[in-house]
Amino acid sequence: MYSHMIRIQGGRPLHGSVTVSGAKNAALPELASVLLSDQPFKIRNVPEVEDIRVMLNALNGLGAETDFHDGNVEICLSGIRSCCVPPEIVRTSRASILLLGPLLARAGEARVSLPGGCPIGDRKFNFHLEGLRRMGARIHVEDDFIVGRAPRLRGIDYTFPGVSVTGTENLLMAACLAEGETILRGCAQEPEIGDLIQLLQGGGADIQLQGKDVIRVRGHARLSGISHRVIPDRIEMGTYLIAGGFMGNDVTVEGGDPEALTSLIQLLREAGIDVEMTSHGVRVRGTGSIRPVDIETLPFPGFPTDLQAQMTTLMTQADGISRIKENIFDNRFQHTVELGRMGANISVSEDTAHIAGPTALTGCPIHATDLRASAALVLGGLIASGETVVRNADQLFRGYEKLPEKLSNLGAEIRVERE
Ligand code: EPU
Repeated sequence: MYSHMIRIQGGRPLHGSVTVSGAKNAALPELASVLLSDQPFKIRNVPEVEDIRVMLNALNGLGAETDFHDGNVEICLSGIRSCCVPPEIVRTSRASILLLGPLLARAGEARVSLPGGCPIGDRKFNFHLEGLRRMGARIHVEDDFIVGRAPRLRGIDYTFPGVSVTGTENLLMAACLAEGETILRGCAQEPEIGDLIQLLQGGGADIQLQGKDVIRVRGHARLSGISHRVIPDRIEMGTYLIAGGFMGNDVTVEGGDPEALTSLIQLLREAGIDVEMTSHGVRVRGTGSIRPVDIETLPFPGFPTDLQAQMTTLMTQADGISRIKENIFDNRFQHTVELGRMGANISVSEDTAHIAGPTALTGCPIHATDLRASAALVLGGLIASGETVVRNADQLFRGYEKLPEKLSNLGAEIRVERE
């Protein structure tokens, strides 16, 4: 398999409008939830990105029939052919853990290859296993597989020891087919979870939100067929809003939901960047000097870890010292080393980065370590003088639909080449 690199000639201002695609992190659990039904699902606005293709391949391996074109997935899993998610699938996407709960609930057994090491830190799944065990599953780890058996899952009252997005989604999906009532407390509140609940309710699931972080589910035998449109990708939207904030840029982001990005919009305004709600979308203009800000990543509605790297690049242009504290993952500052190669002045101590700006960035070859880091490096390349080559750019295509094309439409000089 070829890998790709992105070549950027920096210094071209971005002007115009860009439209947000469907949310990868909403579509992934929604596709996994097809296991809860033997009827067809129609899911629209699915982004054409690698992580989605990996999930569809995993579902095909379990017996699903899928058709994916123009952002529409038609998928049906009328009969389970296999309960095994092999390592080839898990190598590139950790989202395969989302198949564990639904597979146990539908088939009574699951053999899911252990999600591999992740470049952004130790990503645990103990809450997923603990919750499913409480529901009656016997689970152990054997030969790099999570192996589970559960003749019948039963409802539980479970409090998450910490906030987990996919943990909430996994137990929520399993609870839909469990016997009796499940109450999940301390749930993550990300909009992707709200969207999953809507999809499940569309298939007849009996789910109620109580307060902000308690979800009550009354189990069912099976869900019916579902037709659903995936919400817009707030992280993609945030990436383009941040892109609009650099000096000389004027970008309107269309089709997204600003309510899902209140924390970012507030920060951009604090940084002195002009953010305006228009009838078309959110318009961001980088008009003058940028003020440094103090950022801390938190579960929703706090500032998302998935926009931390992109904000780091923006803050290299702020007039003074910004501080960014990463609370969610323990190794999510690898982009700072690469930005340093371009001339950024960033020091990282434990969970906090200090960025001293403004610094002029200079194009050079840099290496993308993970999905959001790649986006941060592309932003760096757009404002750098000369040519930037982002290697290992396949990371970017795991989660951003048509990013080079969208930036090119805004005026960037950017192209993708094979390495
Ligand atoms: N955690 C545990 N035990 C668990 C689960 C999580 O200790 O059983 C810890 C993790 O180690 C981490 C924290 O809890 O420190 C939060 O992890 P969470 O489970 O919420 O992350 P995730 O569900 O694995 C999703 C997104 C990530 C996003 C995070 C945080 C999907 C498929 N992935 O991951 O998205 O960064 O939530 O918002 O929804 C990305 O798109 O680039 C990406 C990494």
